[in-house]
Amino acid sequence: MSSTVLVGTQWGDEGKGKICDLIAGDFDAVVRYQGGNNAGHTIVVGDRKYGLHQVPSGIMYPQCVSVIGNGCVVNPKVLLEEIDMFEADGISTANLKVSGNAHIIMPYHMDLDGASEARLGKNLIGTTKRGIGPCYMHKMERIGLRMQDLLDEKIFREKLETALSRVNPELELIYGLPTYTVDQICEEYLPYAERLRPYICESGLLLNDMIDEGKSILFEGAQATLLDIDHGTYPFVTSSNCTAGGAVTGSGVGMKNIDRVLGICKAYITRVGSGPMPTELSYESEEGHTLTEVGYEYGVTTGRRRRVGWLDGVIANYAARVNGLTDLAITKLDVLGSFDTIKVCVAYDCDGTRYTSVPEHQSVFHHAKPVYEEVPGWRCDISGVRRFEDLPAEARAYVELMEDLAHTRASFVSVGPDREQTINRFWK
Ligand code: GDP
Ligand code: IMO
Ligand code: MG
Repeated sequence: MSSTVLVGTQWGDEGKGKICDLIAGDFDAVVRYQGGNNAGHTIVVGDRKYGLHQVPSGIMYPQCVSVIGNGCVVNPKVLLEEIDMFEADGISTANLKVSGNAHIIMPYHMDLDGASEARLGKNLIGTTKRGIGPCYMHKMERIGLRMQDLLDEKIFREKLETALSRVNPELELIYGLPTYTVDQICEEYLPYAERLRPYICESGLLLNDMIDEGKSILFEGAQATLLDIDHGTYPFVTSSNCTAGGAVTGSGVGMKNIDRVLGICKAYITRVGSGPMPTELSYESEEGHTLTEVGYEYGVTTGRRRRVGWLDGVIANYAARVNGLTDLAITKLDVLGSFDTIKVCVAYDCDGTRYTSVPEHQSVFHHAKPVYEEVPGWRCDISGVRRFEDLPAEARAYVELMEDLAHTRASFVSVGPDREQTINRFWK
């Protein structure tokens, strides 16, 4: 199996966890390269369902090395809770590795996240309040603490002192929040260090050694293309590079080692948090209600109801370009079985100009009106179908329309949350 980047093509929650878990067994390592516990990736195996936040979706395969790469931010408490959950369920975490260069989410990052959202008022981003933005902000400001710092108390204390001299005045004077002492944070975080020590390593070296031995790697993207800090709907984005390029910087693996880019694309679209969404349907509308409830569109991380809308082909086209997609995995096609006809956005009309790719200027995008094509639905349950030929003709035509819009072949079609509920057309 050649090394592959798996990436979300919309605003997240496309079913990355399901597809990652489905194919992870064919790889020697699965790497998370960006994001932190803002992610919520669902894996369903038989009657067990897991919502993963920090740990890569390769964890279900004991032979597979699961890596939290240098591009990630890590909440040690959440990571340990996930480790404990898996161990209690008999799933070994012996093959879990955490990059020493991954940044640590501190309590003040969560405080700053909440306070800055409150300050934004009606312009809030709608973050997960997990401290992701402030942690990346301090990484860029070069006052962040990294997983390797946890391993040396003296260094940890020194760096924390520097960080707090910058953060405490902000907490107190700008937001009127309580400040922190070095001792207070050490008391909570140093015990995590002892438990996490065996997992922390030089993961870039580990991965490159594996490649030299002919092994293959699956890079598991979190969030998605339109939430990417550079290519997404800024400022309504997350604070990392979720697109395929992030796999290289976020893992320390050179780009010549990546062969395929698998874009995960839901058969309709969802978004959590604020920001433009041209094909949005209100929850109160019949179609919006159906997509939400049949698709069970509620967040894994925050439990928020997701905004839903018809498939946005303009975004599919854009995601194919920005990520250099080689393959698509279309997910949740079964959910569309409830409709007589289905709308697909094939272009935007922005103040009289037609766009087939996401306009770069945000105010143009804010004005985007979807141009819809209405196609026949199939009005039946396809969750038991396992071969493409056995899908109703209307469902096959819908997949082909998605392929045309994204200029990318659909190697997988997913018709349910379980591993088994998948049609593999071209993936080898
Ligand atoms: P991720 O963040 O991209 O991993 O996606 P989430 O796990 O947040 O959300 C996807 C949801 O859809 C989860 O509840 C999955 O179990 C579920 N799911 C994934 N693929 C399918 C599918 O093909 N059909 C249906 N009905 N549910 C799916
Ligand atoms: P997965 O990996 C959907 C959204 C938040 C908010 C914005 C910024 O499960 O697809 P942040 O806390 O990252 O600063 O929030 O990004 N967001 C997600 N939406 N799925 C996710 O992850 C998300 N992670 C962050 O709702 O709009
Ligand atoms: Mg999710």
